[in-house]
Amino acid sequence: MEIVLSRCTIRGFRAADAGSIARHANNRKVWINLRDRFPHPYTLADAKKWIVVATGAVPETHFAIAIGGEAVGGIGLTLKNDIWRRSAEIGYWLREEHWGRGIATEAARAMVDHAFAALSITRLYAGAFEWNPASMRVLEKAGFTREAVLKKAVTKDERTIDLVLYAIVRNKRAGRAEQGDDALPGAR
Ligand SMILES: CC(C)(COP(=O)(O)OP(=O)(O)OC[C@H]1O[C@@H](n2cnc3c(N)ncnc32)[C@H](O)[C@@H]1OP(=O)(O)O)[C@@H](O)C(=O)NCCC(=O)NCCS
Repeated sequence: MEIVLSRCTIRGFRAADAGSIARHANNRKVWINLRDRFPHPYTLADAKKWIVVATGAVPETHFAIAIGGEAVGGIGLTLKNDIWRRSAEIGYWLREEHWGRGIATEAARAMVDHAFAALSITRLYAGAFEWNPASMRVLEKAGFTREAVLKKAVTKDERTIDLVLYAIVRNKRAGRAEQGDDALPGAR
């Protein structure tokens, strides 16, 4: 999968991305906003392991955000199962030097479109930590609705904080035509 956008390209990870991913992911300001399974410090071995996992997944759900051929971040979907099987969680991070240029917003919008086009999901959601207004803004600009504040729901860096829950449901982005479940890929 490759989606060429004006500020970045979303594409599958490549083995050759390991060095740049390790370099850019190894940043406390990135880690502090993600769950603990995102390693810190982030080593070359972590990047290599992650790329094997991401490239082996079917369907492919985790992608590099690339600029000028270099992987400078990641964006992906975690597909849920059981009764949550039509929900997926979206997550993303970007090299700090590129923050504030609309890159994550552009990537998030494209992932939302890709997710609803390619997968039989009806809901995408994300939880931003209470200290992460940049991510909340990204989600708002990508058409997500703030649904709830889960009080004292998560513990990060030994601080127990609120999680702000954002979601977007299929075909609810402003300006889109309404479609029913028949529009789900693989329906019928
Ligand atoms: C969150 C993250 C991906 C944003 O990437 P980005 O490319 O800088 O995002 P964008 O430039 O598309 O949009 C950022 C928006 O947040 C706003 N913003 C940034 N810092 C802010 C702050 N402290 N308070 C309020 N708004 C803020 C920006 O002004 C911009 O909004 P605008 O376009 O209306 O001006 C990046 O900061 C990152 O990688 N953070 C660490 C990982 C992370 O938080 N992942 C998400 C977990 S839910």
